[in-house]
Amino acid sequence: MFHSIRPAILDRMRFLEEIDRRDRADGTPRLARLRQIPPETGRFIALLAAASPAGSWLEIGTSAGYSTMWLALACEQTGRTLTTFELLPEKILLARETIRLAGIEGVVDLVEGDARECLRGYPRVAFCFLDAEKEVYGDCYDAVVPNLAPGGILAADNAVSHEAALQPMLEKVMADARMDSVIVPIGKGVLLSRKR
Ligand SMILES: C[S@@+](CC[C@H](N)C(=O)[O-])C[C@H]1O[C@@H](n2cnc3c(N)ncnc32)[C@H](O)[C@@H]1O
Repeated sequence: MFHSIRPAILDRMRFLEEIDRRDRADGTPRLARLRQIPPETGRFIALLAAASPAGSWLEIGTSAGYSTMWLALACEQTGRTLTTFELLPEKILLARETIRLAGIEGVVDLVEGDARECLRGYPRVAFCFLDAEKEVYGDCYDAVVPNLAPGGILAADNAVSHEAALQPMLEKVMADARMDSVIVPIGKGVLLSRKR
C-alpha cells in the first residue's frame, strides 16, 4: 500500500507536512496547529489497521486529515472504511478539503463533533486510532474498549511525548486484563493495545 500512493494523496501529504513543520517553527498557537503524526507513525497505524480483524475502523482526532490519509491507504488496500471524528470547525474545513483533494471520499466518513458522544454507537470496533486532547484519552478508551472485537486494536499517539500527562491512563491500560498492551517507541510513542 506504500509503493504506489496516488499523486493526489502524496501531494496533499506533502502540503500538510509543510504546514505542520511551519506551525511548529513559527510559534503558531497550539490549538491552531495541525499537530500531525510523523510519517513513520502513519505507516505504522496503516499496517496495524490492515492487520485488524473484521469490524469498523475509527479515528479520534482528524485535524486536517493527515493521519486519515495513511489510514485511507489501508482502507483501499483491504476494502474497509474509516469513520474519523473532529471537534473544531476550522479543522473540519481543512479535513473536508483533504478528503476531497486526496479522493478518499469513498472510504472515509468524517463525523463532526465530540467523539465521546458518539463512540458507544460503534458496536464491533476492529481498529481505533486515538490522537485527540490528552484529557479525553481516558474517556475514549473507556468508551471504545468494551466494543472492541476480539483481536481488535486500539493505538494511541503521544504515549512517550506526553508520558507525564498520560501516566494515569497508561497505568490503567497496562493493568487492564481485557487488553495486551505495549508502548512502541515510534514517532511520539504509540500505545498499542489488543483486545484478548
Ligand atoms: C493531535 S491533533 C490530531 C492530528 C491527526 N491525527 C493527524 O495526525 O493528522 C488532535 C485533534 O483532535 C481534535 N479533538 C480533540 N478532542 C476531540 C474530541 N473529543 N472529539 C473529536 N476531536 C477531538 C482536536 O480538535 C485536534 O484537531
